[in-house]
Amino acid sequence: MADQSAKTAYEAFAPIYDDFNHLNDYEAWFGLLLPELEKRGLRKGRVLDVGCGTGRAFEPMLRRGWDIQACDVSREMLAQARRKFGDAVALEEADARDLPVYGEFELVWALNDVVNYLTEDGDLERILVGMRANLAPHGLILFDSNTVAVFQAYFASGEADGMSVGQWTWKGLGGDFEPGDTLEAEVSGEGVETHVHRERHYTGDHVGEAIAAAGLECLAALGQHEVDGTMTLSEPPDEMRDHKVIYIARVDSAGPRSS
Ligand SMILES: C[S@@+](CC[C@H](N)C(=O)[O-])C[C@H]1O[C@@H](n2cnc3c(N)ncnc32)[C@H](O)[C@@H]1O
Repeated sequence: MADQSAKTAYEAFAPIYDDFNHLNDYEAWFGLLLPELEKRGLRKGRVLDVGCGTGRAFEPMLRRGWDIQACDVSREMLAQARRKFGDAVALEEADARDLPVYGEFELVWALNDVVNYLTEDGDLERILVGMRANLAPHGLILFDSNTVAVFQAYFASGEADGMSVGQWTWKGLGGDFEPGDTLEAEVSGEGVETHVHRERHYTGDHVGEAIAAAGLECLAALGQHEVDGTMTLSEPPDEMRDHKVIYIARVDSAGPRSS
């Protein structure tokens, strides 16, 4: 049976997710990401949000007049999204490793660690194949992946007591870290059942191979980091400087390629 740790984690994390992540500024994030997508031919229309959670990522697109189809493996995260957005967004329970075809979308994304929660060999290829199957012919795919710097700071053993976020603690449980490893962290505190997040680091080479195997062409791999408190994207990515690598892809007219 496929790894269910992400579903288990998010059923527990859902009640505090938005408060825990309140410092994440999605409006600023899209202020950076949208021009990068537009440069690469994005047309306005429909977006499919894979691993939508409580809807933090699709909210700025809703404000910009996009039609949203969203899905997540966690019922509790979807319940939070439903509470906030009601019928304004189509929300479905689905596993990204076995993504249904919802239609043809100008943009298909999996944002904020979604791919890092896919920990088994072949999972990354599976989500990308599913995302590709939902693309309009001119559509774009967007996803991010956490860097070595993030795994070392938040998943390797870190400080004995962990990091405080409001009344909660995020504590890395991992030991030594090597690129490509899967590590765990524990969340505990007021109003949340103590639970474990398991994430896998993906090297740039691994992502590149998965993109090609899914019949996609990688248009950009951008390193995201902060300069004087402002989020910035630059090429090439740097696993130690950046927090995330942002990938933009489209259908490869030559079809899937094996490495
Ligand atoms: C860090 S949250 C990000 C949520 C949202 N994209 C955001 O930016 O706030 C990761 C999300 O990925 C979802 N997820 C993890 N594994 C998944 C899978 N196999 N299929 C669908 N969703 C998954 C989790 O349930 C959770 O909602």
